[in-house]
Amino acid sequence: MISNHTIEEIKNRMDIYEVISEFVDLKKSGSSFKALSPFTDEKTPSFMVSPAKNIFKCFSTGKGGDAITFLMELDGLSYMEALRFLAKKYGIELEEEEQTEEQVNAQNERESLFIALNFAKDHFVKNLWDTEEGKNIGLSYFKERDFTDETIKTFELGYALDQWQGLMDAAAQKGYNESYLERAGLKIVKEDKAYDRFRGRVTFPIHNVSGKVIAFGARTLKSNEKGPKYLNSPETELYTKSKILYGIFQAKNEIRNQANCYLVEGYTDVTSLYQGGIKNVVASSGTSLTEDQIKLIKRYSENVTVLFDGDKAGIKASMRGIDMMLSGGLNVKAVRFPEGEDPDSYCKQLGGTAFKTYLEENSLDFISFKTELYISGTDDPIKRAEAIREIVHSISLIPDPIKRTVYTQQCSNKLGIDEGTLVTELNKLLLKESNKPRTNYTSGSPSNPSPSMGNFPPDMSPFGIPMEPPPDLFADPTDLEEKATPSDIIQQQERESIRMLINYGEELVEGFEGEETQLAQYILTECEDIEFTTPIYIEMMDMFKSSLAAGKVTNLHDLMGGSEEIKKVAVDLSTDRYELSPNWSDKFQISVAHERDALKKSAFGNILRLKFRIIRKMIAENIENIKNSTDEAEIDELLSMQTGLKQMEMAIAKELGNVTVR
Ligand code: CTP
Ligand code: MN
Repeated sequence: MISNHTIEEIKNRMDIYEVISEFVDLKKSGSSFKALSPFTDEKTPSFMVSPAKNIFKCFSTGKGGDAITFLMELDGLSYMEALRFLAKKYGIELEEEEQTEEQVNAQNERESLFIALNFAKDHFVKNLWDTEEGKNIGLSYFKERDFTDETIKTFELGYALDQWQGLMDAAAQKGYNESYLERAGLKIVKEDKAYDRFRGRVTFPIHNVSGKVIAFGARTLKSNEKGPKYLNSPETELYTKSKILYGIFQAKNEIRNQANCYLVEGYTDVTSLYQGGIKNVVASSGTSLTEDQIKLIKRYSENVTVLFDGDKAGIKASMRGIDMMLSGGLNVKAVRFPEGEDPDSYCKQLGGTAFKTYLEENSLDFISFKTELYISGTDDPIKRAEAIREIVHSISLIPDPIKRTVYTQQCSNKLGIDEGTLVTELNKLLLKESNKPRTNYTSGSPSNPSPSMGNFPPDMSPFGIPMEPPPDLFADPTDLEEKATPSDIIQQQERESIRMLINYGEELVEGFEGEETQLAQYILTECEDIEFTTPIYIEMMDMFKSSLAAGKVTNLHDLMGGSEEIKKVAVDLSTDRYELSPNWSDKFQISVAHERDALKKSAFGNILRLKFRIIRKMIAENIENIKNSTDEAEIDELLSMQTGLKQMEMAIAKELGNVTVR
C-alpha cells in the first residue's frame, strides 16, 4: 500500500508534459502540444497535451486524463504500477503504509486462495500432459478438436482426473490447507462427504486481467454425462462471474493494438479464434453481458465487434447486450455466421486468414445490423415501423450527441426515412429517459462529463465533422462548467460588463467597420439585444445609455453622484478590479496591462459569455417546461424552441472558441 501522503506528493509533482514526452513526440501548438495519437494509427495529430491544465486528450479514441491515466492507457499499467513508475521517475521515496493486522490477514487470505487456484491449475496441466488418463482422454480430445500445443499452453488448459479426490489428495500431500480449496470453489463439502468439484473434465482456467487464475470452466468428455456439458466454478471471494471476461488476459494487449475487441460466447470460440491469429477476442461465458464487463472492455478499446451464430432468435435475445454496450459508450459492430455455424466451427472451417477476411467483410455497424435483422425481407409496414422504433431506441441510448447525430443520418439514408421524423422520435425517447432516474451505465454520458476537458479547439470532434448540427437537446446546461447557479453566473457577467464600462468606457477601440469608437459605445451596441436581470446593474446600464445618447460616457465621478448603492458598486468595481487578494498583485499588474491591450476582445468575450449564460438559463427553463408539460402539441412546440435555443448556444459557443481571453 502506498500511503496517501506519497500519492499526494506524486500527484503534485507529476508533469503531464514531462511524462508524455518520454513516449510521444510532442509538437508545440499554441499553449498546448500536439502529436499523433499513441493509441491509434493516424496521419493527422489528434492527441493534445495541455501543460496548463496538466491533462492530455486524444480526440481519436476519446481517452484523456492526467499522467496516471496516460500511463495506464499506454502501458496497461495498473493504478499502483503507474504511481510506482512516477515515484521512480521523480525520485520520490515510496512510503509504504503499515498495514493493519486485519489488512495483512485479508491480504494473506486472498493470497492463499490464489495459491490454491494456481496449484489446481498446475495440477490439471500436469494431468493433461503427464498421466495416461490425461493424455488418452483430455489431450486426445484437444487434438481431435485441432487445438495446437501452443494454444493449450497459452490458455493453460488441463485435465481433471476422473477421481473423487484427485486434487484434494495432491493438495494434502503438498501440505495445503484444505479450507482454501473449498473457498476457492475447487472442493465440494456435502454433509460428511468432501470431493473435488471437477472430475473427468478438461479444464479451462479463467484468468483475471493480470493473469492469475481465479476460476475454472470444465467440459465433460463423457457422452453419458448427467451433469452439464460445461461446469463452472461458483462465485468466490476472487471470482465474480459478472466482472470478468474469458480470455481478457491473453487478449488485452491485442485489443488495444487492434483498437477492437471481438466478443464471442464461449471458451472454445476464444481459443479457436486465438489459434487462427485473431487474438483480440474475449467471451462473456454464457451469461448475458454486464455493465462491469463493458467497462472492462472499455479499458482497452471503445470498439467492439460482437460475433453471433446463425440463429435469428438467439440474436434478437442478445440485443439487450448491444443496447447496453451502446449506452456504455462503446462503438458496436456485429457479424453473423451462416446457419448452424458458431465462431469456433466457422473459424476452423475457413482457416484463420479467410475467417479474418470474413469478419472484416461482414461486420456491420449496429444500425445496418439491426436493419438487416428486423427489416430485410419484409414489406409489412407494421413490422417496418416496429423495426425503426427499435433502431431509434438503440440510437437514443448512445451518450455522445455527435455520434447520435451521425447514426440518425445514417439511419435516415438507409431506411429512406426523413431525418426530421427520426429526430422527433429520438427526442421523445430522450425526453422519456431524462425524466427517469438514470440507473443505466452512465460513464461518458452527458450527466457525467469527464472533468476539465474544456477549451480544446471547439471545432475538433472525434469524427472530424463540424460541431454545429448535433445539439444535445437534453444535456444539463449547468453541469459543464462552474457549479454556481446560472443566475449567479449571469449576475457576475453583468457585473463584469459594468466594470469594463466604468474603467475603460472612454478608451478608444477599433469598432465596427474599422473606425475608432469608444468602448462604451461598442459595449452598449453589443448589449442592445440582451436584458440585464440584476436591478442595480440595470439601473447603472440605463445611466450609461442615457449619457451616451447625450454624447457623453458616464464616468466614476458621475456615478459618485448616484444612490448609496450605486456609489458602493462603482467604488468596488473601480478598485478591486479582479477581486483578487492583495498578495496576487504581481499577477494583477500584468492582467491590467494585458486588459488594456485587449479591451475590445475582452469586452466582446464578456458579452458573449453573458449571452451564452442567458441562453443556457433559457434552455434549462425550457427543459423544465418540457418535463412538466403533458400536452403533446405544447411539447412539440417547446421541443422546436429547444432546437432553436441549442443552435444559438452552439453558435455563441463557437464564437467564444475564437475569443482567447479569459
Ligand atoms: N457453453 C457453456 N455451457 C454449456 C454449453 C456451452 O458454457 N452447457 C459455452 C462454452 O463456453 C462453449 C460454448 O458455449 O465453449 C460453445 O458451446 P458448444 O458448441 O456447445 O461447446 P463445445 O465444447 O464446442 O461443444 P461441441 O463439441 O458439442 O460443439
Ligand atoms: Mn461447439
